[in-house]
Amino acid sequence: MKSKFVAAVIAAGIAVYAGAEEVKTEWYTVVDGTMVDKNTMNGFRTWRALACDRCHGANQQGMVGPSLLESMKIISKEDFVTVLTEGRLEKGMPAFKTSKKVMSNMDNLYGYLKGRSDGAITKSKVKPIK
Ligand code: HEC
Repeated sequence: MKSKFVAAVIAAGIAVYAGAEEVKTEWYTVVDGTMVDKNTMNGFRTWRALACDRCHGANQQGMVGPSLLESMKIISKEDFVTVLTEGRLEKGMPAFKTSKKVMSNMDNLYGYLKGRSDGAITKSKVKPIK
C-alpha cells in the first residue's frame, strides 16, 4: 500500500523536499502552488497583457467566456492553438493572430492555463521561482 502511494506521487511529478513542493510536467514547473518557471511566468504575463480575464474571469472561472479551468481539461493543444489564432468570432472569442505577444507565447499561455486547470497552480497570480 505504502509503496503504491509513493509510486503514484512520483508518477504525478511531485517532489517534496526542504518543505517546498514542486510539481513539474511537460508544460510547467510550480513550487508551492504559486511560484513558476520562466515560461509559465510569461504565459501569465500574456494572460494579463491581453486581458483574457475580461471574459474568462480573474481566476479563469468563466464569465461571458467559458471556465478555462474546465475547458483546459477537455480541449487538445491543437484546438487551443486554433481557437487562440482564429478565435470563434461568431461566439464572441476574438482571434489573436495579429497579437505578437499571444502568438510568440502560445506554449507558455497553454502551460500557465494547464497548470491552473490541473490545480497545480493554486492562485491565478503567480511569481517567478526564486
Ligand atoms: C471578448 C471576450 C473574450 C476574450 C477577451 C477572450 N475570450 Fe476566450 N472565449 C470567449 C468566448 C465567448 C468563448 C467561447 C466560444 C465558444 O462558445 O465556442 C471563448 C473560448 C475560449 C477557449 C476555448 C474553450 C473551449 O472550451 O473550447 C479558449 C482556450 C480561450 N477562449 C482562451 C482565451 C485566452 C487565452 C484569451 C486571452 C488571450 C481569451 N480567451 C480572450 C471570449 C473571450
